[in-house]
Amino acid sequence: MTIQQPTDLTHAAMLGLGVHRPERLVTNDEICEVLDSTDEWIQTRSGIRTRRFASEDETLIGMSISAAEKALAAAGVGAEEVGCVIVATSTHPEHTPASAPQVATALGITAAAFDISAGCAGFCHALNLAASMVRSGAEKHVLVIGVEQLSRFMDPTDRGTAFIFADGAGAVVVGPSESAGIGPTAWGSDGSQAHVITQTPSCLGGHSEVDHPVVQMEGTAVFRWAPFAMAEVAHEALRLAGVSVDELDAFIPHQANLRITQTLARNIKLPDTVAVATDVIDSGNTSAASVPLAMEAMLRQDEASAGDTALLIAFGAGLSYAGQVVTLPPLAG
Ligand SMILES: CC(C)(COP(=O)(O)OP(=O)(O)OC[C@H]1O[C@@H](n2cnc3c(N)ncnc32)[C@H](O)[C@@H]1OP(=O)(O)O)[C@@H](O)C(=O)NCCC(=O)NCCS
Repeated sequence: MTIQQPTDLTHAAMLGLGVHRPERLVTNDEICEVLDSTDEWIQTRSGIRTRRFASEDETLIGMSISAAEKALAAAGVGAEEVGCVIVATSTHPEHTPASAPQVATALGITAAAFDISAGCAGFCHALNLAASMVRSGAEKHVLVIGVEQLSRFMDPTDRGTAFIFADGAGAVVVGPSESAGIGPTAWGSDGSQAHVITQTPSCLGGHSEVDHPVVQMEGTAVFRWAPFAMAEVAHEALRLAGVSVDELDAFIPHQANLRITQTLARNIKLPDTVAVATDVIDSGNTSAASVPLAMEAMLRQDEASAGDTALLIAFGAGLSYAGQVVTLPPLAG
């Protein structure tokens, strides 16, 4: 007996992008009503000026659906054509069931749907899975969503995190294309640094004042690690794709902190001609949603165009990291 395998290997690309930015804009001054800090300190240390927090009626699943609908419209792909839905998140409030099946059902999709957890690197991990499925012929279209509602999982008085994290969602449809639009992924992990970014329920030793697992972070450790380790990952992603740094149109790293982005850009010797994503200034750090949100900001503000070549790099809790060279997708309408 022979088990059948799909053999029509193809190229994969992001065919459409959509995002959901929550309505409520939160300034540093508002954060500092509770946090012992200042607008000036926050801007100097992180670059962040504003961020968005979801309101009562903007759930993680609702934000995912909103972003996904726009991505499907931008791609011109119908719900019935989607073969798999992957949601990257660390802030779905339930361990079980995963968020993805509920997102899929709301969109009219009955295909496989599951969540992945790779912290702030989740979107770039999911993109690799989706591209691999499409390239292998296992699925024709895969919906990838990066979404977070970190405002529910923060201690607003914690000086190391309260001004950094925020909410939002970004989605792409990955499907077949004539040329490669998603390069091979350089990815990896370092569990010896698991303690650096955590979200532990209070009953297991986290914060006792709050009844949900809050994010805690050793900010200085992240700062010592990311700009240097991620420069090597960037070079590896470029090498795997056969693209030189001068051939890039855009650099879209995880929007952790503007100083990390600037140091990383210097460390990879990015030419001044390459546009650099700075959505962290307006949106804060939205973890798994930050790369697609930053992509959308660059396209909307004409800092980059659909079809441009961009380097994505994401990193965070785990520690986990992933990066790939991509062709930027179109936005809806
Ligand atoms: C969080 C972060 C901004 C803190 O900056 P830092 O320069 O490392 O700050 P430190 O903790 O060393 O503290 C420096 C000083 O600022 C003070 N400080 C710390 N947090 C503060 C805050 N929120 N507001 C005002 N002052 C603060 C400290 O008390 C200290 O004061 P001192 O010098 O008088 O003792 C920085 O470590 C960082 O950005 N790390 C990366 C975080 C990140 O991007 N995470 C994303 C992971 S995916």
